[in-house]
Amino acid sequence: MTPEEQRTMNIRSIAIPPLTPDLERVLIDADTIQRRVNELANQINNDYADITEPLILVGVLKGSFIYLSDLCRKLTVPHVVDFIAVSSYGKGSTSTGNVRLLMDTRENLEGHHVLIVEDILDTGYTLDYLVRNFHSRGTRSVNTTVLLEKPDRHVVPVDLKYVGFTIPDVWVVGYGLDYAEKYRTLPYIAEMKIPTK
Ligand code: PRP
Repeated sequence: MTPEEQRTMNIRSIAIPPLTPDLERVLIDADTIQRRVNELANQINNDYADITEPLILVGVLKGSFIYLSDLCRKLTVPHVVDFIAVSSYGKGSTSTGNVRLLMDTRENLEGHHVLIVEDILDTGYTLDYLVRNFHSRGTRSVNTTVLLEKPDRHVVPVDLKYVGFTIPDVWVVGYGLDYAEKYRTLPYIAEMKIPTK
């Protein structure tokens, strides 16, 4: 087999990872996610068309890393990518509302337009903390984008500017979202079966 045939075969053999027994169903397939990310990027490109300084995209680790990487490659407005890490969950799976900053941005946000990029809004504690924290740094504007939001779970109101999908209160993994660090790199969003003890 020639190297060219080898490459072609490898491309053809890329498959969508199958559902494992832990997963109930595909909630949002990969093509649908990509179409929506394109739409959101178009909105952002329109809304920030007149900015003169780069927009700072701040991805909230870890869950946002795949959404951020797909989104930023569709942006035509000038932008830089940065990250922040916070912790709002204790050992369990429910947010405590006690948000801690684990790793700050490298960029100085003062005077800049900032877009916070999140994979999911659940209770809203994380984004509420970040929006207030970023405003206190003298940013020029702070907006938010979340790929997923669960309205049934909101505890604190958050002004969401760009929302990918509104989903029911089910346990979701994939496209950045994990369960005990598993499933983050699935190309689709799947509903997980509730683990039994
Ligand atoms: C998840 C998610 C958001 C946050 C949303 O992060 O990525 O950052 O929870 O929840 P909230 O609206 O209730 O605050 P998680 O703490 O699971 O960390 P991870 O992104 O590293 O998986």
